[in-house]
Amino acid sequence: MGAKILARIRKHPKSEEVSIAGLMHDIGRLVADVFLTEEMIQAIEESQRTSRPLYLVEESTLGASHAEIGRMAAEKWQLPDMIRNAIAYHHPSRDQEAYAITLFIHEVDHLAYQYGFPPIHGEVPMPMDERLLEALQIPLAQFDPIGQVILKEAEEVGAAFGL
Ligand SMILES: [Fe+2]
Repeated sequence: MGAKILARIRKHPKSEEVSIAGLMHDIGRLVADVFLTEEMIQAIEESQRTSRPLYLVEESTLGASHAEIGRMAAEKWQLPDMIRNAIAYHHPSRDQEAYAITLFIHEVDHLAYQYGFPPIHGEVPMPMDERLLEALQIPLAQFDPIGQVILKEAEEVGAAFGL
């Protein structure tokens, strides 16, 4: 939802694909939660206990972050490159190339946390990365209005589903 709104604001030429990438970027979490349930519970607890972002804890305890797990699933499912890259690179990583879509989804993630959407299991939110703000070319002054639009749309979607 945040990806859809930011894509519209930025007049992104592939706004539909960006919206889908936004919806699917954490698909590795679902895969890991289903197939590595106990390990993920322990990783989340360690993330909370040590205040380290979950994807870093996953790398050290599981050997791969949910972004990497999602990348493997996306390859198996033969998802388009843009969506696969958004899934694979939405958290900073040692071997990451600077894909524009990656930066976009990462910042949408951060915006969502900042404006009231907690991480799925209450893990430690990601820190703001100033380089990403520069890459997005969205002035800081616009973040609050954008966040309010995201909140309003989320409330409407929640109401439509009776949440
Ligand atoms: Fe993530």
